[in-house]
Amino acid sequence: MSYTSPMKILEATALSHKFEYPLFSDIDLSIEPGETVAIIGESGCGKSTLLHTLSTLLKPNSGEVKLLEKDIYSLKDRDLVAMRRDELGLIFQSHYLFKGFSAYENLEVASLLASEPVDDRLIGRLGLNDVINMKVTQLSGGQQQRISIARVLTKKPRIIFADEPTGNLDNNTSLEVMNIFEEYVKEHEAVLVLVTHNEEFAHRCDKVYRLHERILKQVK
Ligand SMILES: Nc1ncnc2c1ncn2[C@@H]1O[C@H](COP(=O)(O)OP(=O)(O)OP(=O)(O)O)[C@@H](O)[C@H]1O
Ligand SMILES: [Mg+2]
Repeated sequence: MSYTSPMKILEATALSHKFEYPLFSDIDLSIEPGETVAIIGESGCGKSTLLHTLSTLLKPNSGEVKLLEKDIYSLKDRDLVAMRRDELGLIFQSHYLFKGFSAYENLEVASLLASEPVDDRLIGRLGLNDVINMKVTQLSGGQQQRISIARVLTKKPRIIFADEPTGNLDNNTSLEVMNIFEEYVKEHEAVLVLVTHNEEFAHRCDKVYRLHERILKQVK
């Protein structure tokens, strides 16, 4: 019998980036299917920037990022767009919801693009039943954040990048969001890369890394 190692979902090698000053240098990170990974570190240390470089949004000054074994910064634009649409779920501090649409219509767009059904149970679990037909602009920040989470999960992505996804949420709702992420990742052999200031949520992840003085160090 031959053993084939599982597909590497995310492999970053020797990543470095600076803006006015260097944020991180020579970072390696590798994530296997079914893993949840948290990145912690003090405000301004470069966590969001690192997440952007891992998730196709920002080409690092140097280094390589492979998602699903493809080198994302040498893909053709068309292939990069397809990867973002089909494989990646981005949940970032500024949510990209369609403002003129209702919350439900935002989920329908994701559902149509991905040919996946809208999951009504997920809407209930996220406590969105009462607001699901309201316009996005009429929703609170936390409600918009939950709609972005539902929209991303509707696509059934293989890799979820989430930057402070529970930043605007109360404790119970945050706990439910973490439960939903964990179940989703295990069920779909997906991965979650979570940036958070919440140490308790970070430690629920399989692995925890701290970004400090330009170095990414595994602490769990
Ligand atoms: N597009 C940009 N141009 C110039 N500087 C930037 C840019 N994006 C971020 N920075 C700077 O890089 C540093 C790190 O920012 P980043 O958003 O990655 O930090 P963070 O660790 O996510 O912080 P927080 O926990 O507060 O969200 C900051 O000093 C920020 O001003
Ligand atoms: Mg940030």
